[in-house]
Amino acid sequence: MQTNPHSETSRARQAPVNSMATFQVVPSGAAVGAEIRGVDLSQPVPEDVKEALRKAWADHMVLLVRGQTIDDDQLEQASLIFGPAHEPASRQYHVDAGHAVDDSFMVSKRKTITIISNLDANGNPVMDNGGLGSYEVVWHTDNSYVKVPPAGGMLYSLEIPNEGGGGDKSFNNQYMPYEELPEDLKRAIEGKSQVHDSSRNSAGVLRRGVNLPTKPEEVEGPTHPLVRVHPVTGKRALYLGRRRVWPSNYIVGLPNDESEKLLDRLWAHATQPKYAWTHKWKVGDLLLWDNRCCMHYRTEVDTKQRRVMHRTTIKGEAPGAPW
Ligand code: SIN
Repeated sequence: MQTNPHSETSRARQAPVNSMATFQVVPSGAAVGAEIRGVDLSQPVPEDVKEALRKAWADHMVLLVRGQTIDDDQLEQASLIFGPAHEPASRQYHVDAGHAVDDSFMVSKRKTITIISNLDANGNPVMDNGGLGSYEVVWHTDNSYVKVPPAGGMLYSLEIPNEGGGGDKSFNNQYMPYEELPEDLKRAIEGKSQVHDSSRNSAGVLRRGVNLPTKPEEVEGPTHPLVRVHPVTGKRALYLGRRRVWPSNYIVGLPNDESEKLLDRLWAHATQPKYAWTHKWKVGDLLLWDNRCCMHYRTEVDTKQRRVMHRTTIKGEAPGAPW
């Protein structure tokens, strides 16, 4: 068959990888997320494609790039397209608190790549490995328990369980629930901030050397506005962080029961399935998400199967309130 050498398909076929001729953004069709095609992160990425990736990130909040074969240097380079590295806050948290730091979750003791796995020190899959293990990881946004939380996270899959083995990852859009807040709820949170409890990790596991708070006065963590303005898009998003059993995050300046009622309503609204998209992993998938306008969730992992990922964290800025 003869093809027109000037057609779109023909140009894409002849184009070098990582060029704007091969670059494609395919929206997930849900409220958040898009797949990027025509990009190979093991190869140099030119500036125009980097710019297109940043634009796609701002537009879609979560990007998926399938079928990548990259080493840690290439993962680090891919992450730098979107911003400088942020030292994972859980490590910094322990350094600041004067606790011994467990670096067994860091790749080659680098401070920029974390191992997210369900393996214990002997390499066997377990439920509790001192990190996220195989636990279900409830809806949250990363590291909201530090003053300057990261802008984003990037996760690259090396080993995943078979179909049905769990570890599926969901993301939700937090611009839409802000826009769709009932008027009374919007008014009730105007000007309000929340204390973000730092005592437990994303799987709900109490951090080493930390006491579980027994009353709100004992909850330690920074204060962030309930609504933040995204520094790139200028749009407003709900910023809820994470929710644990009381006493945990609370709204500053409200009696306890009012704070709890308001947070219950906000969480029920923000985590509706209509705002979310779920990804089932394949080896070589790379996901990038924006903590400033999304939350994420992971299903429990089968403790008989290995799951290993490498992850980078991207530096952010202190959440800016719209008021
Ligand atoms: C998380 O960061 O919430 C967990 C990442 C994952 O294992 O999918």
